[in-house]
Amino acid sequence: MRTLLVAGGAGFIGSNFVRWMLAKYPDLKIVNVDKLTYAGNLDNVADLPVERHIFVQADIADAPRMAQIIEEWRPDAIVNFAAETHVDRSIHEGLRDFVFANVMGPQVLAEATKKFNIPLYIQISTDEVFGALGLDEDRLFHEETPFAPNMPYAACKAGGDLICRSYFQTFKTPIIVTHCSNNYGPYQYPEKFIPQAISKALRDEPTPIYGDGLYVRDWIHVNDHGSAIDLLLARGVPGEVYNIGVDNERSNIEIVQMLLRMLGKPEDLTVTVQDRPGHDRRYAIDARKITALGWVPEFPREKFEDGLRAKIQWYADNAEWVEKLKQRGAEINAHIKI
Ligand SMILES: NC(=O)c1ccc[n+]([C@@H]2O[C@H](COP(=O)([O-])OP(=O)(O)OC[C@H]3O[C@@H](n4cnc5c(N)ncnc54)[C@H](O)[C@@H]3O)[C@@H](O)[C@H]2O)c1
Repeated sequence: MRTLLVAGGAGFIGSNFVRWMLAKYPDLKIVNVDKLTYAGNLDNVADLPVERHIFVQADIADAPRMAQIIEEWRPDAIVNFAAETHVDRSIHEGLRDFVFANVMGPQVLAEATKKFNIPLYIQISTDEVFGALGLDEDRLFHEETPFAPNMPYAACKAGGDLICRSYFQTFKTPIIVTHCSNNYGPYQYPEKFIPQAISKALRDEPTPIYGDGLYVRDWIHVNDHGSAIDLLLARGVPGEVYNIGVDNERSNIEIVQMLLRMLGKPEDLTVTVQDRPGHDRRYAIDARKITALGWVPEFPREKFEDGLRAKIQWYADNAEWVEKLKQRGAEINAHIKI
């Protein structure tokens, strides 16, 4: 039986990945390592088969503990989704946790990959490390685009990515780094942009929009992100970097209006809130490199409305999941991940 160590598998993208992989591969076992910060939620993985899904609560920045776990399980590969991810928290609440999780964490995993000869480590990163594109600029982020992070969260992610690069360059430690665009799908923490907009609209409350709303992101369904990682586990080349996106650029205002239309609410059920400092105008991914490996997303741009509709349905069907998070003290407020 193949064993995968997935870090951050109780969060949004990690839990979707674990669920998707276990469904696709009946002979796969996943050791899911998560610190269970406010964003980690065991409810996201509660229904998975316990004989093939082993949950371990641990901090990826804790080197002795991670060495112990990796030595015990000797996984065939490590995929690291674990990170502090909320941009507004990185601006307003200090950086300590971000540095530990997003910089130290990848270093600890790279070191353990080297020490225990793990065949492959995939470090999940974000397009935010590349900085911002202009609205009228005829340019996309490709794998060689220089890092130019504009906010503390992205700077920490870039730090982790560079440490991974250095382990390959110096020690030939088999590491791949990926940069994906904004994800949407089930199990996303309600403070993030799309789930927040859905929750607000379902309660007939206005959705907060930063500034002029013309912030453009390249939206990808979370399972398409997962299928890209699955492909890289099989065909990715260690030491390489892969960008992941589906050429689906949308402004925030466009998305909110689509959601409101789908929910049968007035399109002006929005409220303008003060813009975020250092707010990046546009992200857009050139995904030709991973596409050339044979990756075919299930929700390309033409199917975005289908993906959004499914997400709305999931939130409507899982109101209890959102309610429970609120009771845990989740902040459903004007902070939006965009
Ligand atoms: N959400 C997006 O749109 C997006 C886009 C591109 C890339 N990414 C990257 O994908 C990854 C997952 O993002 P997400 O949106 O699922 O995040 P999330 O905040 O929903 O989940 C993060 C998970 O990591 C865990 N975690 C945090 N610090 C940890 C630590 N020190 N040790 C162990 N576990 C820890 C949390 O408990 C949580 O379960 C991140 O690395 C993020 O940078 C996210």
